[in-house]
Amino acid sequence: MSESTKKWRVAVIGAGTIVKYAHAPGFQRLPNVELVALCDVNEPRAAQLAQELCIPQVFADYQVMLAKVQPDIVVVATPNIFHKPMTEAALQAGAHVLCEKPLALTYADAKALFDQAAEQHRVLTVGTHFRFTPPMRAAKAHVDGGFFGKIYAARSVWMRRNGIPGFGSWFTNRELAGGGSLLDIGVHTLDRALYLMGYPQPMTVSGAAFAELGPRGMGLGGWGSDINRSTAGVRFDVDDMAWAFVRFVNGQVLQFQVSWASHFPEAFHTEIFGTEGGAYVSSRDKLELYTTLNGQEVTVQSPVQEAKVSSYFQLIENFVRHLDGDPSAEIVTRDQALLSVQIVDAIGRSAVEGREVVL
Ligand SMILES: NC(=O)c1ccc[n+]([C@@H]2O[C@H](COP(=O)([O-])OP(=O)(O)OC[C@H]3O[C@@H](n4cnc5c(N)ncnc54)[C@H](O)[C@@H]3O)[C@@H](O)[C@H]2O)c1
Repeated sequence: MSESTKKWRVAVIGAGTIVKYAHAPGFQRLPNVELVALCDVNEPRAAQLAQELCIPQVFADYQVMLAKVQPDIVVVATPNIFHKPMTEAALQAGAHVLCEKPLALTYADAKALFDQAAEQHRVLTVGTHFRFTPPMRAAKAHVDGGFFGKIYAARSVWMRRNGIPGFGSWFTNRELAGGGSLLDIGVHTLDRALYLMGYPQPMTVSGAAFAELGPRGMGLGGWGSDINRSTAGVRFDVDDMAWAFVRFVNGQVLQFQVSWASHFPEAFHTEIFGTEGGAYVSSRDKLELYTTLNGQEVTVQSPVQEAKVSSYFQLIENFVRHLDGDPSAEIVTRDQALLSVQIVDAIGRSAVEGREVVL
């Protein structure tokens, strides 16, 4: 069977919220994919989701699943701390891997995973899907078409007022999550800016992280399968807000702000500053372009086509087309993923050490 007619057998580790709403339906809409197995330490949860989605095999132990099923593709969608060992095991078992963000908690770990993938001739990619939203597609077209001239600065923001996910679950427990808003929505916020800036090489990073509202039971969001509505005795030892300033070797700079919870209205967008034009790129539905024409300030509402399918589904579809050998498919590459982890890692270190980190 040629790669282009192959039916990909997919096994999923984790039967939580993102699998229910993104991975499972995303893979199931593709004709050349079969979801063959689902694994979760919470076996009843896995069994229920498998029944809903007609996935034939259920496991409580991912090592057993990998050995028995020998899937072509493995999705890793568990608490962050497990991403590395599960991705290692899946690659070892001969599968291509779509790992949820954050791929790993440190740059060294992420690099080791990509090195292993290369050694085993397998594709490893990460679930940073916001590049596939309509405003990001349109903004990238304007980057490629030269609208901005030289991009010299960007600001990327995802501020939630009440958005702590999985309150009282693994999300707010440092041993299982590795971190809070920085590792969760920070990874997306950074990738949006880097994607439009062309993934420049970072030089210095100055970061700060806070946990002012979460530990007081404030700022609860709705996401996460084990969310705890009671605030009593809830463990919260991760950050609920992180800011950073990054300088790149080529002179570009990035201002970065994320929060799970803060006394401030919701904001989720990326701003681009170029020598010939600027842009406001919203999360889902708005792209505004700014320039000067004939000495006059001009603001253009760039038409943003409504997406036929979600950005997550597009990430999955592109991943499978990439495996099929389609050169037009776009995935989050090794270099892009590693650059992102390197900066997130440096923001975290800078915040702990209270000083700028030189890369
Ligand atoms: N790319 C995105 O936009 C996006 C969005 C949400 C979540 N995520 C990521 O997806 C991952 C999962 O998030 P979620 O919201 O689905 O969390 P969740 O809490 O809803 O689900 C996690 C699941 O993992 C299971 N699990 C825990 N330990 C396990 C183990 N050792 N073996 C097998 N299963 C285990 C839990 O029982 C739970 O069912 C996280 O890394 C998160 O950062 C990504």
